[in-house]
Amino acid sequence: MTSLQKRPARRGAVLRREAVAATIPVAVAALLAAAGPASAGTGAAGPTAPAGSAGSAGAGDPYFPLAGNGGYHVSHYGLTLAYDPKTGHLDGTAVLTARATQRLTRFDLDLRGLKVTGVTVDHRKAAHRRDGQELVVTPRTALRKGHEFRVTVTYNGTPGPVTDPDGSLDGWIPTDDGAFVAGEPQGAMTWFPANNHPQDKSSYDFTITVPAGHTAVANGVLRGQRTAHGRTTYRWRQSEPMAAYLATATVGKFKVEQYTTRDGVKVYNAVDPREAAKAAPVLKELPSVLEWESRLFGPYPYRAAGAVVDHAPQVGYALETQTRPLYDSAPALSTLVHESAHQWFGDSVSLTRWKDIWLNEGFATYAEWLYDEQHGGPSAQNAFDTLYARPADDRLWAYPAGDPGSGAAIFGTPVYARGAMVLHELRKAVGDRTFLRILRTWASEHRYGHGTTAQFTALAERQSGKDLKSLFHTWLLTKGKPDKA
Ligand code: ARG
Ligand code: ZN
Repeated sequence: MTSLQKRPARRGAVLRREAVAATIPVAVAALLAAAGPASAGTGAAGPTAPAGSAGSAGAGDPYFPLAGNGGYHVSHYGLTLAYDPKTGHLDGTAVLTARATQRLTRFDLDLRGLKVTGVTVDHRKAAHRRDGQELVVTPRTALRKGHEFRVTVTYNGTPGPVTDPDGSLDGWIPTDDGAFVAGEPQGAMTWFPANNHPQDKSSYDFTITVPAGHTAVANGVLRGQRTAHGRTTYRWRQSEPMAAYLATATVGKFKVEQYTTRDGVKVYNAVDPREAAKAAPVLKELPSVLEWESRLFGPYPYRAAGAVVDHAPQVGYALETQTRPLYDSAPALSTLVHESAHQWFGDSVSLTRWKDIWLNEGFATYAEWLYDEQHGGPSAQNAFDTLYARPADDRLWAYPAGDPGSGAAIFGTPVYARGAMVLHELRKAVGDRTFLRILRTWASEHRYGHGTTAQFTALAERQSGKDLKSLFHTWLLTKGKPDKA
């Protein structure tokens, strides 16, 4: 069993990665939330049919009321894209295989901007209209509950990013040599029609054509690459289930490196030459980071891995894109550790609502602390103490990690740093062995699925045999600086 005993130092001090700083225009977020139709997203996620057998316009997430859709699940996306970085033009065909979870006279997809030129359902022309980020599809005949159907959407235009409630950009973000394509939490809908909420997970096939000399990188395994008439087509397959926000189709002029790890994981790294020298020593650690995390958290969930290191200074964050995290510049090792840990916590085990985001960010941040501790850096206790020393009016204590309050706050310091502090408190309360067993059981019981905060706290109590209610109440759910236990 992996222990948390110190291992010999293998490298110098780890660069601390500041959690994504969030200035929080709360009023803006409140406005956005209020802008959603009152009928949308109010618990209509599951099989509950709103009046008239129309699928609901949202998955029921109060932070992003229009994100996702009710009435069906997508099992597979087949995305065929052609992108011209010079003009910024995207041509797309999306083929969705879905199953109706209720009788459906119409249903929504999420798609922002772009022009839809045709929609078919089961190969028959379907009526469609646009309503903000909703693409409303009315099939010729109603779909019965349980029916598996195929939706084809052809579309084109000049994609661009959305601005999130916290002011950051997400989605299709053009760069000087292509596009940085990162979809958390909302941006998938800027480049393909989706059931855009992590409640829905699907497999993906991507066929992406770009001018020769450019590389198009998506998730999973590269199945083929072919150049003809000055254009190169890349085919990627993501077979394990993936939430839409973790999909990418990043385009740029990249140096590519491919190899297979000792564990048989296929690695594909794409690196902007401007970042290559700085990125190389960090990327070299990827196999050992994944091995170390596998020892701690259980088997790596995917058959593919890697990184896209872009040169995209306008982005300001990295993303745990499934199998192949996306970095806006050469990452620090701690960032690589963080995004890799998300492959277990966030990607394989997904959220059911954005409010639970600490299950992603707190866990990935705690992985950084554990990595430091076991590689000659400061201990997790040390990281905890440094944070705890912050005064009571520091933004760290502004809201509880387990209840950020709005979509504007999901990437704030309390979610990352205090989220990790929650896990450290848990570790101290249950001991190292039980703590690791909890993390591993969490990853294995919810592998490729979903987990909620309530399920995690229940698991922690079950595994430890301890009543942890007041611990979680204080550290996870109460705002303000807790008294030290
Ligand atoms: N999940 C990413 C990380 O922790 C951060 C994504 C931030 N996204 C955003 N739109 N601000 O690495
Ligand atoms: Zn993260």
